[in-house]
Amino acid sequence: VAPDSLRALAANIGLRMGTAVIPFDLDHPDYQAIVAGQFSVVTPGNEMKWQVVEPTQGTFDWSGADRLVAFAEQHGQLVRGHTLLWHSQLPAWLTSGVDNGTISNAQLRDLLHQHIITEVSRYKGRIWQWDVANEFFTDSNPSTINPNDFWVSHLGTGVIADAFRWAHQADPHALLFYNDYNIAGEDGTNAKSDAVFAWLRQMLAQGVPINGVGDQGHLDTQYGFSGTQMTQDLQRYASLGLKVAITEADVRTFVNNATDQVPTDHLATFAQPDEFGQMLKGCLALRQCISFTVWGFGDADSWVPGFFTGEGYETIYDVNLQPKPAYTELQQELALAGSGAPHRTGGGF
Ligand code: XIL
Repeated sequence: VAPDSLRALAANIGLRMGTAVIPFDLDHPDYQAIVAGQFSVVTPGNEMKWQVVEPTQGTFDWSGADRLVAFAEQHGQLVRGHTLLWHSQLPAWLTSGVDNGTISNAQLRDLLHQHIITEVSRYKGRIWQWDVANEFFTDSNPSTINPNDFWVSHLGTGVIADAFRWAHQADPHALLFYNDYNIAGEDGTNAKSDAVFAWLRQMLAQGVPINGVGDQGHLDTQYGFSGTQMTQDLQRYASLGLKVAITEADVRTFVNNATDQVPTDHLATFAQPDEFGQMLKGCLALRQCISFTVWGFGDADSWVPGFFTGEGYETIYDVNLQPKPAYTELQQELALAGSGAPHRTGGGF
């Protein structure tokens, strides 16, 4: 591992640098070399989601997840498991069964319990952090647990705490995370952060086994962002005794087209790396921030163009897998954090 790689620079200060990985892209040597050379923790982008691991009821496909966990172990990396309880990317057999009444709420709860026990047990001892529950809070002000969420509407809000209890039973040593977006000041009002903080405090008071909070960190240059606010919000979670992590960092902007991904506003080429840097500094400022994960590292195979019309340029490598200014930004921040700025001498002042 090169001493100026992200993973080596982060190791100097006890931080893990991570990326989401598409396991079957590891077949490409250029892609594989970056995963192994730059990162010390990996997250499967999709391959631990229920839709992927149990496409047909009772028939499992662990191929992508198994491959990534094995790769990580061969390359001295840890794994973030993602994600056990989420409204999205559920198997069609499950959601249609609930819709047409063939799966009752009691059966749904049993299926979820079984899903969590099966998946967490399969990788017991091999997952550093699990994103147990993902995206339960509304984006409104004030923010609450979304009453219309698939799981909450059928099983009540208590299902979230149960998911943490079940995951803890299956792997008592894994760090269990609540993961969400816009929970570190990205929404401007801080309403979502306030709601998540209050809920976490309540859960911890009830003894629910939650160890950490993941702020996804999906930014967009059109909205702006404050690293200072992020640090304050992360600090507040940490004050509850929790670890924190940046789990899905990317910074999108409007681009000319999805192939070349050249920002249409020239200033975005400065804002994009700047916001990556602010997020990293927000994490670096806090001892309890244990990992900083980017949501993929090449603009060519990111989720953004498919989800946000006209946007792209969100990662730290360009469409040809060449490092962008955002890469250099992260590298410089890590180097400074590890060595400190040199003290000037002999200036004659
Ligand atoms: C995204 C994946 O990157 C895409 O490939 C997939 O089509 C949709 O999901 N928040 C999350 C991630 O927690 O799981 C999402 O990942 C991005 C938003």
